[in-house]
Amino acid sequence: MKKLSSPLELDPTISLLREVSPYFLSHRAKKFVVYLDGGTILSDSFRGLAQDLILLSAVGIRITVVFGANQQITERLEVKGITTATVADRMVMDRECMVEASEVIGAMRLAIESNFSFVSRAGALRGSDATKVSSGNFVTAKACGVLEGVDTLFCGEVRSLDIVGIESRLNSGDVVLVSPIGYSPVGEIFDIKGSDLAVEIAQSIKAEKLIFLTECDGVFGADGMLLKQLGTELGASLLASRVNCAYTEELLGAAIRACESGVQRAHFIDSQSDGAILKELFTRDGVGTMLSDAPFDSIRTAEDRDILGILELIRPMQESGALVGRSFDLVGKDIDNFIVMIREDTVVACAALYLHDETDGEVACVAVHEDYRGDDFGDLLLMEIEKRALEQQLSNLFVMTTQASHWFQERGYSLCEKEDLPPQKQIQYDSSRNSIVLKKSISN
Ligand SMILES: CC(C)(COP(=O)(O)OP(=O)(O)OC[C@H]1O[C@@H](n2cnc3c(N)ncnc32)[C@H](O)[C@@H]1OP(=O)(O)O)[C@@H](O)C(=O)NCCC(=O)NCCS
Repeated sequence: MKKLSSPLELDPTISLLREVSPYFLSHRAKKFVVYLDGGTILSDSFRGLAQDLILLSAVGIRITVVFGANQQITERLEVKGITTATVADRMVMDRECMVEASEVIGAMRLAIESNFSFVSRAGALRGSDATKVSSGNFVTAKACGVLEGVDTLFCGEVRSLDIVGIESRLNSGDVVLVSPIGYSPVGEIFDIKGSDLAVEIAQSIKAEKLIFLTECDGVFGADGMLLKQLGTELGASLLASRVNCAYTEELLGAAIRACESGVQRAHFIDSQSDGAILKELFTRDGVGTMLSDAPFDSIRTAEDRDILGILELIRPMQESGALVGRSFDLVGKDIDNFIVMIREDTVVACAALYLHDETDGEVACVAVHEDYRGDDFGDLLLMEIEKRALEQQLSNLFVMTTQASHWFQERGYSLCEKEDLPPQKQIQYDSSRNSIVLKKSISN
């Protein structure tokens, strides 16, 4: 007879699959732009990284890779004994420098393509449909011109992008590879800053994520601790207070620009840590820093002054039957259980956590104002509730919903019976609402 494992001795492989599967579903068909700096491409970890990127593509994520080549170009110029000035963070590129830069970038492109080809045809993912890497002349460039009084010559910036070309290759399942180079309409070649190019592409293709896979660990706060997440406002104030190194600041500035112009999230991931991109994208806590234009900083425990705001927010959802009716007194009595997201002094989203016993809790009243839906506010609230549940040492979270069961399933909750609810909750179950019951096991 087969031995059934008790919930207490859950197979770690099964736990892992359950933790990652919602992320596979929610990332599928999304567009991610990944920026790799020169140091990352040179490093021993690059083959593993290429394998992780091909895996992301194989599960349906649309990957555009943009690389930087500053380190390699600087080294080549040194070897050749060519000196050049740096103006406004850009290397001045005369014709001689540009010839060297073009060779370096061409060789890097080939090295990246060969690594991608290896992992998709001969590496661990062989046997699946090989992922194609598409490179091309997607970037039209123009000269940066005179900066700080110096003509920067072949130092360029993006003039336009062939978005249709990039998107048609992404839609065919290819990984798109874009070199930090652009062509003018008369055929001149310009050197383009890779991180800026990644931002431009992410904005133009309306990417969900811009991921910096670089030799930078992430963004540090004023207390010197690595930040797991931050909003663009905090990012801007960290830039002003010069807390991070110059390289991190450069990437943070690029990430803020991207998030302020529609990219949902930017991630900073240390490329030297094996599998870091998978951990960042497929686990609850991630490993690097995540930046978003969404107001992370304004999620807080609700207070009495929020009662009216919560009631106003949930009123239409109560009327439609999505949420159970709650009176002023009830919300007031339970106010410590609520968290709220505040924008411009208004409650735009809320959620509540109830503790039923030492191990079981309930997520309730997850509500996002109609004007703010689809911006991950629901996700952020749920992450905060789950974090608080873990701090309370809970192992299981239940939720009862009439209209959002799929939303919770995509976030790792599984359908269960009302008999699975904690005893007290079974007694309170309102059969006339006939809510769907879901459960998620949580652990550190
Ligand atoms: C469910 C709810 C909290 C989601 O909030 P949100 O901030 O829009 O969610 P996110 O931005 O994190 O996620 C958006 C995604 O969820 C999907 N989604 C939104 N509501 C959904 C629902 N009821 N069922 C299934 N998917 C849903 C969106 O289509 C979107 O999918 P996409 O990324 O593939 O386009 C919000 O729709 C809401 O307030 N619903 C009414 C109240 C309710 O039913 N609460 C649950 C009971 S506790």
